[in-house]
Amino acid sequence: MKTVAVVGIQWGDEGKGKIVDLLAHDADIVVRYQGGNNAAHTLVVGGDKFILRLIPSGALLREKVCVLGNGMVVDPVALLGEIDDLKRKGFALNPGRLKISYDAHLVMPYHRAIDRSREAHLGKRAIGTTGFGIGPAYEDKMSRLGLRFDDLVDLNTFTEKLRRNIRDKNAHLRAVLKAKTVPAEPIVAAMRTARRRLLPYLCDTGAFLDDAIRAGQSVLFEGAHGTMLDIDHGTYPYVTSSNCVASAVFAGSGIGPASLDAVLGISKAYTTRVGAGPFPSEMFGTLADSVREEGVEFGSATGRPRRIGWFDAAVARHSVRVNGLWGIAITKLDVLTGIDPLQICVGYDVRGKRYDAMPPGRHMLDRVKPVYEEMPGWRDDLTGARTMNDLPAAARRYLVRLAELTGVRLAMVGVGAARESTIVLANPFHS
Ligand code: GDP
Ligand code: IMO
Ligand code: MG
Repeated sequence: MKTVAVVGIQWGDEGKGKIVDLLAHDADIVVRYQGGNNAAHTLVVGGDKFILRLIPSGALLREKVCVLGNGMVVDPVALLGEIDDLKRKGFALNPGRLKISYDAHLVMPYHRAIDRSREAHLGKRAIGTTGFGIGPAYEDKMSRLGLRFDDLVDLNTFTEKLRRNIRDKNAHLRAVLKAKTVPAEPIVAAMRTARRRLLPYLCDTGAFLDDAIRAGQSVLFEGAHGTMLDIDHGTYPYVTSSNCVASAVFAGSGIGPASLDAVLGISKAYTTRVGAGPFPSEMFGTLADSVREEGVEFGSATGRPRRIGWFDAAVARHSVRVNGLWGIAITKLDVLTGIDPLQICVGYDVRGKRYDAMPPGRHMLDRVKPVYEEMPGWRDDLTGARTMNDLPAAARRYLVRLAELTGVRLAMVGVGAARESTIVLANPFHS
């Protein structure tokens, strides 16, 4: 297969970055198509840790082209910081290697200010956003007030639109949110500098990808966040402001549905979630604390402790359906070493009625009682395993059960944070 999408099938942080970095070896181009720097994708390569927020996780392979698709919302200053940081580490991204869509939207400081003050206003009902202005930037896109990279081309009209937006947003910040306004001049100056540096990277990325696919190149699409954070298919309103499901590849990169060969879903061997909202298989107490410590479950974007839960097969089945998954990769199996017994959430009970997938109406998620199945654990260190036969029998049985409950092929298993700590059973690019 030539075109593959990788999507998170839980609430984000499933280990997409690591799997994309691994699969990028077989791709010519790696594409982000939604979200912004609310994403944080961690790669551990040669003992060094890299966190990529906006730039696709193909960046560490020097011959790959990285694309920021039209569906993204991009903070230009954060992007330049990421480009500079990668350059310092020896991974320069010149315009031949990094292509930014003219149609991607710009995240501005007023978006961050609105995001943060709105969360403060919500108090106990806060979503727990990353505070990077993602929701307000997508709102502007949908209400047709947004600024795009395309607007940067003509500096005078860009500056005029920017000043108008700052004036309007400041009026909103002052009058409605009773929050501090953002000063116009530093934003205008920062954007003038950013513009000069970013113009050479602008590209008609949809046409670029179409040409590449027609020429037989391999393309990897890197999803951000996760299916349960999807604006339509997740736990609304406790979601992010973009579509994170596989169908977002098309609108967010400009290729047609027939151009995508396979979708690989990524899931942890357990579940985590950052921020507020329903989480049926959540666990608490010392067991949750020890998984958090062992799995280093602290948000890479914000440092917040992640909530911890058991693997939820109802969530997995929902994600298989809405993403049309070809297979799944189960990451962080090594983190479960020493936990015995293990629980798997196999469905939900709502007042005596059993649901094997999402109950109709997400409001029910607050009331579901998870139904658990118990499985024996193992004590062996898994980090050196490279084939299924290297795993203890109990770990193999656990994986087989997860795949059975999920209903799709098990393609990969993560047994450590490093690129090489992966068991590959099926590589979509080789199928
Ligand atoms: P992403 O947002 O989906 O790319 O995931 P994050 O990078 O935010 O979070 C996943 C975390 O788990 C990162 O710290 C990874 O280095 C780490 N990780 C990924 N796969 C594995 C694995 O199989 N085992 C262990 N122990 N860590 C992993
Ligand atoms: P990656 O790509 C985990 C969560 C936030 C919050 C909600 C809305 O690294 O998996 P936002 O700032 O997007 O408006 O916040 O979505 N969230 C993520 N959680 N991983 C992510 O990305 C996330 N991106 C957003 O914590 O609950
Ligand atoms: Mg992450």
